[in-house]
Amino acid sequence: PLVSMNEFLPKAKANKFAVGQFNMNNLEFAQAIVEAAMELKSPFIYGVSEGALKYMGIEFTVAMAEAAAKKSGLPIALHLDHGSSFEVAMKCIRAGFSSVMFDGSHHPYEENIKLTKEIVKAAHAMGVSVEGELGTIGGVEDDISVEEENANLAKPEEAIRFYEETGVDALAIAVGTAHGMYSGEPNIHYDIIEKVSAAIPVPIVLHGGSGVPDEMIKKSIAAGVGKINVNTENQVAMTETIRDIVTKDQKVYDPRKYLTPARKAMVEVVKSKILLFGSNNQA
Ligand code: G3H
Ligand code: ZN
Repeated sequence: PLVSMNEFLPKAKANKFAVGQFNMNNLEFAQAIVEAAMELKSPFIYGVSEGALKYMGIEFTVAMAEAAAKKSGLPIALHLDHGSSFEVAMKCIRAGFSSVMFDGSHHPYEENIKLTKEIVKAAHAMGVSVEGELGTIGGVEDDISVEEENANLAKPEEAIRFYEETGVDALAIAVGTAHGMYSGEPNIHYDIIEKVSAAIPVPIVLHGGSGVPDEMIKKSIAAGVGKINVNTENQVAMTETIRDIVTKDQKVYDPRKYLTPARKAMVEVVKSKILLFGSNNQA
């Protein structure tokens, strides 16, 4: 069965590794992610954004994640990514999600606390874990775009009080990463991660994990990051592979001819992230 993130995040924080949230966008993503995790015996999180949920349909989303859990026997969480309301979170929980993120970062601070608290109360009553977000993460995800200069970093004192008042199981704070690929390199504020992580018992979540240099990922984990989200790198791997094949072979028409190599490319991406995050052999 699908499990709450509390099945593996406390161990991640204690032993200084991070569990990957790999976003699911279709069947090939679901298959590639679980295949990589099975090879490396790693727990993982299927992240599903509201846009991806609309694309796949909630029934197919849950069925694919449950099939992966059954087939692999791994601890897998099915997690709503950047949930925008209490209603969406409850809809996902009722459908079988084992974890939800409420992204109240665009609300004023006190309002974010109040809304997050309500979701934590309802979710915890059903054994479902919750991720909250503070500060704004730059870049574009689905249709949500945040200008780089508007991406304001989380303030440590505010993040600590946010945790204390809401009781979230994982805390996403803006520390300099952005959704999508980077034109240069991100400027990660490790001091913010360290300060907040040292003061709270749950791990910090790093969003925008695609394109972050390996060394920066390692330093972030050492500072207190225990969950890292990756989506764009898998999207790029899939699309580049397909583009390459259909460009070279104008006669190809069987989707399996290009989706099989595309899926293989994603398996490689996910395997490299699992090894980098150190979650291999932690299932
Ligand atoms: O919530 C999802 C992630 O933060 C994905 O970010 O597409 O830059 O890997 P990414
Ligand atoms: Zn994100």
